[in-house]
Amino acid sequence: MPVPQDIDSQAAGRQLLTGHRELRAQLAELRASLDETGGPGAVRDAGANAALIQQLRARCLEYCLGLHHHHTMEDSAFPVFEQRYPEIAPVIERLREEHRQVAAGLERLGKLVAADDGQDVTWLKEELERTVAGLEEHFRYEETHLLPALGVIVPPTT
Ligand SMILES: [Fe+2]
Ligand SMILES: [Fe+2]
Repeated sequence: MPVPQDIDSQAAGRQLLTGHRELRAQLAELRASLDETGGPGAVRDAGANAALIQQLRARCLEYCLGLHHHHTMEDSAFPVFEQRYPEIAPVIERLREEHRQVAAGLERLGKLVAADDGQDVTWLKEELERTVAGLEEHFRYEETHLLPALGVIVPPTT
């Protein structure tokens, strides 16, 4: 794939940070919805429950797609960053490997959701957590070790 050499490092870094904020917020919402649906207060008729679980499966896949898209964008910019900032090549290699691990998890989750009968939300919660385990650490590592090289200062509250 051709590498877009005209990338503005700082703009790309800011976009990355915005992506993290959105993905964090979406994951928090998704977790809350899954907890609410599968929690002790979740007493509904079977039809309404099945419809809700169906919605959650769709939202889960939507989140996974967004995460995949975020990592694909980063992967496409990494060769440029490696050329411009060779001192962070090991950081980028680690990030690439983590992207590969997350991609494998996302593929697995997608297949499981597609094959599910939509009756239960517990397994979906568990599989989602398995897929995103370590994701917050990945985001923080990127913000701590990649963004400063791109000229982006990360606010402490992020
Ligand atoms: Fe990343
Ligand atoms: Fe990222």
